[in-house]
Formats: sequence, C-alpha cells, structure tokens
Amino acid sequence: MSAEAAGIHTSAPGVATTPRGEQNHGHHGLAGAPVPAPVPSTHPDLAEILVTENALRAKITELAAAIDADYAGQEVLLVGVLKGAVMLMADLARALTISTTLEFMAVSSYGSSTSSSGVVRILKDLDRSIEGRHVLVVEDIIDSGLTLSWLMRNLSSRHPASVEVVALLRKPEALRVDLDVRYVGFDIPSAFVVGYGLDFAERYRTLPYVGTLTPEVIAAG
Ligand code: IMP
Repeated sequence: MSAEAAGIHTSAPGVATTPRGEQNHGHHGLAGAPVPAPVPSTHPDLAEILVTENALRAKITELAAAIDADYAGQEVLLVGVLKGAVMLMADLARALTISTTLEFMAVSSYGSSTSSSGVVRILKDLDRSIEGRHVLVVEDIIDSGLTLSWLMRNLSSRHPASVEVVALLRKPEALRVDLDVRYVGFDIPSAFVVGYGLDFAERYRTLPYVGTLTPEVIAAG
C-alpha cells in the first residue's frame, strides 16, 4: 500500500512557530554535518563504524548548546520515540541545562525489517496532555521521513505551544519529504545502520557507536 493510499501525506506538519514565536524556516537550528570517513570495525557483524563514540559525544554537546540557546528561560517537554531514541534521549537530556521534562511514545511503522511504509500505529501514547507546552521530539534517525511526518501532524493536533524535532541521523531520502527538522546531528549515506539505540531485529542497540552491518548479517537476518 502506498503512503497516500494509507492516508499518509508527506507534506510539512502544521508547525507554525518556534519556541520564540518566530516563523520557522529551519534556519535557526543546527543543520546536519556530513559524517567523517568511516573507520573499520572490530565487531564481527559490522562492516564499518560511521559515527564513533567521540563524534557522538561532541555532537550531543553541540546540539545541547543550540537547544539551550533557543529555549533559554523556557521549559521543554522532550518526547522520545521508543526504542531507538533512548540513548540520544539519555545523553541529550543530561547535556541540556534548560528545564526539561521527559515523555516517551512508541510507534510502529508497518514495513519490512529495514524500511518503513508510513502506516503508523501508536503502541504507547504520551501519559499527559501537551497543550501549551514546548515539545521537542527526540528521534534516532529519519529515513523516509514518513514516521516523523505522521508523528508531527499527530502531536501538532494536540495544541502544543510549539513542536520541533531533534534527530541524531538523517538519510538522503528524508530530504525529499517536506519536513522541518530543526536540529540534525549527522547526514549519513543511505545505508542501514545500527548502534546507539538503533537495531536490526532488536540487536545491536547497545553499541556505543553507529555502524553498518556486513551484507552477510543483513542477508541472514
Ligand atoms: P522512516 O519512517 O523511514 O523515516 O523510518 C523511521 C524509523 O525507522 C526510525 O525511527 C527507525 O526506528 C527506523 N529506521 C530507519 N532507518 C534505520 C536504520 O538504518 N537502522 C535502524 N533503524 C532504522
């Protein structure tokens, strides 16, 4: 089923303003940096490490500084998307100095094990209302952008003061969707990656870096 047939539209979510009430055209946030040259992995299932532990740490410090500056004096509700965003949520939340509260959502996007269809179901919803709150969605990776596009529309309909996104990783396909992502860690090539929260059949989430799997592991999965 196509995204349109499933009632999923890939236009921009209804997010009109930034935390400071400006029109948001994405130029005050943090654009994704290209990943540095990959390094060989010593893990038997991984082909290459795309983002090292050090690069992750430095990027999270940078993202936190940008978010602290943009939301100075305001309280932000961080909404982590389970399970992939847990590592980013834990590290980013501790790096921020502004006042924050945490919530989690779990969504499932139907599709194969390595791609999403844009048909989204809420497995775990937010515990309380977000009306009037400044919401910052914490996402692991944007691939097709279909999941996030749906989530932004869903959250925007709950009347928050603002909704923005911080995503650690973004693949090139995401740029084809009209999706305003305010903070992006790294723009990575179009490959399936694991580690730092990201899984393949629930494995590899706890690796402290982000890397690509060997073709043998993908074929066997
Ligand atoms: P999208 O709807 O295609 O943007 O995919 C969103 C979700 O698919 C992400 O939040 C991840 O959970 C998952 N995903 C997309 N690409 C990858 C990947 O390379 N590795 C692991 N999970 C991924």
